[in-house]
Amino acid sequence: MYRDLHRNIRRWYAAHGRLDLPWRNTEDAYRIYLSEVMLQQTQVSTVLERYYFPFLKRFPTLEALGKAPLEAVLKAWEGLGYYTRAKNLHKTAQLTGGTLPESIDALMQLPGIGKNTAHAVAAFAFRQTVPVMEANVRRILARLYALERPTEKKLWELAYDLVDKENPFEYNQAMMDIGAMLCTPKAPKCDLCPLQKICRGKNDPERYPQKRKKTVPTKSVTVLLYKQGEKLGLYKRDGKFLHGLWGFPECDAPPDSAHLIGSVTHAYTHFKLSCDIYVSEETAPSDLTFFNVSEICKIPISKVDEKILRCHLNMKKA
Ligand code: ADE
Repeated sequence: MYRDLHRNIRRWYAAHGRLDLPWRNTEDAYRIYLSEVMLQQTQVSTVLERYYFPFLKRFPTLEALGKAPLEAVLKAWEGLGYYTRAKNLHKTAQLTGGTLPESIDALMQLPGIGKNTAHAVAAFAFRQTVPVMEANVRRILARLYALERPTEKKLWELAYDLVDKENPFEYNQAMMDIGAMLCTPKAPKCDLCPLQKICRGKNDPERYPQKRKKTVPTKSVTVLLYKQGEKLGLYKRDGKFLHGLWGFPECDAPPDSAHLIGSVTHAYTHFKLSCDIYVSEETAPSDLTFFNVSEICKIPISKVDEKILRCHLNMKKA
């Protein structure tokens, strides 16, 4: 049905695609699954430069990952954010005993594997004839069919219809690259696009899809640094947020004896966090454990807590 289109996409991919991405040059389902989970919320360059290979060195197989302590997994994930991804990877490793199932339905039963990831693993690791879906592919489809607000159901229908049934692997990888390199949110390069002939949105591509405007609230918190000599007090987080990571304690209002040393902010998906950092002279609560800086570097902490630590160290230097 789309013979010419598929040929154009294939040629474009062979000439311009990111053919050397490591997860495109392996048949190891674990390596492909890991890349998909890392890439869910993180850019290719960050995953590639800082996380993918060290993680695989530390946990070379899904079985090894399942046998490792969660804290070691969180440490290897440190800085990538969205730590639920790491916890779900670890759980999936334990539940599967080291071998991923191949069917989309079975994959979707596993923690952290939704419809998108299941399709990506099925398509890339098990070479199934199914489409993949992520932000880049969504944007291409919305433009291709000039849809301002396509539903998920519509996008999947279109994706299943359009997938190259003969070369699904190259087609799916190509769609991601076209979305990342040509069909960009702003100023897409339609003149270079292998889909241009059939694209209904090409005269006004930025109209598709319409962006939902979201305003994120700011949450302000007070963070207390308790000191014992050179050591700082941290607790192991057990709430829903950043569960399993270590962090500096918070309070509603700083005690009178505490003094402000600075502030840091951090943007999460649903809110912005603003932290005022105080050094407390009060007696530390009993649930804190005291670590020196080199010890803190060995336990998993969040990006915000890293920023807080850096603020403290800069103050000491100044
Ligand atoms: N994002 C998600 N999966 C990807 C892949 N296979 N290649 C590049 N970016 C991706």
